Amino acid sequence: MATPLILDCDPGHDDALAILLAASHPAVELLAITTCGGNQTVEKCTLNARRMCSVAGIVDVPIATGARGPLLGSLHIGEYVHGISGLDGPAFAEPTVPEAAESAHDLIVRLLREHPEPVTLVPTGPLTNIALVLQAHPELKENIREIVLMGGSTERGNDTPYAEFNIRVDPEAADIVFRSGLPVTMCGLNITHQALATPDVVDRIRALGTPMGDLCVELLTYFSASYLRTWGFTSPPLHDPVAVARVIDSSLVECVEAPVAIETHGRFTSGATCVDLHHLTGEPDNAHVAMTLDVERFWDLMIGAIASYG
Ligand code: RIB
Ligand code: CA
Repeated sequence: MATPLILDCDPGHDDALAILLAASHPAVELLAITTCGGNQTVEKCTLNARRMCSVAGIVDVPIATGARGPLLGSLHIGEYVHGISGLDGPAFAEPTVPEAAESAHDLIVRLLREHPEPVTLVPTGPLTNIALVLQAHPELKENIREIVLMGGSTERGNDTPYAEFNIRVDPEAADIVFRSGLPVTMCGLNITHQALATPDVVDRIRALGTPMGDLCVELLTYFSASYLRTWGFTSPPLHDPVAVARVIDSSLVECVEAPVAIETHGRFTSGATCVDLHHLTGEPDNAHVAMTLDVERFWDLMIGAIASYG
């Protein structure tokens, strides 16, 4: 049976490839795409989700707009990585896939209530939408199978020295999610930096010789330039598909159990994920922390998904 999932995202180059993976693999059933402000404004993130689904022919998955910004404070966007559009690089025609009439909040709540089995939530952007659903409807926790998120890090951050972007944008939302008592899997930078889109990987995608392959090469080319300019990476890490890959085949991602606390007040560390790998704090484990990626099989999965679109 396919695992039903909702992808809550902020497209974003890596979110865009996460959409392709989640919508194509038979092990998962993509019930909805919901968006939040993050890499760009929520309006641009929704437009980008619609663009990707239109090009990919993903026409039966509702795309709903969610939170414009974090629970507290104003939105901090990742334009320096993803560009003014949030999906810079390729030129896109007007999308044909519409935006859902429902809000992301209402769509998530309705699907959790209506779906015949518990739903896996896969957030790959700031956790605002998820936190708002958990706050408004704690009774729906029993309808959530698990939360498998891209965010945080067992090591240093990226958007600030100690905070990863998704958590940094909305630390309060992340605190709600990690203290929810739900099964949470954290796919942080420590593992997503193993998913590097090297020249060999890009060559494999280019060699598909398909329109979707060519689009992904354009996306990765732009993404690669951002990572080289900002962090000196010679190859960009493809963060968000790692979370989806974990749901598709858990053997791709090795995890350890650990307590994870979210810094919400640090003057210099707000948004840091304090992962107690050695159990020094005596706190109870509240997350499966992803540590090791089966890199070869991950790229076979990701490239196979791209190839499936022709
Ligand atoms: O820090 C990387 C994460 O922030 C990814 O999800 C990327 O898309 C941005 O949202
Ligand atoms: Ca993202």
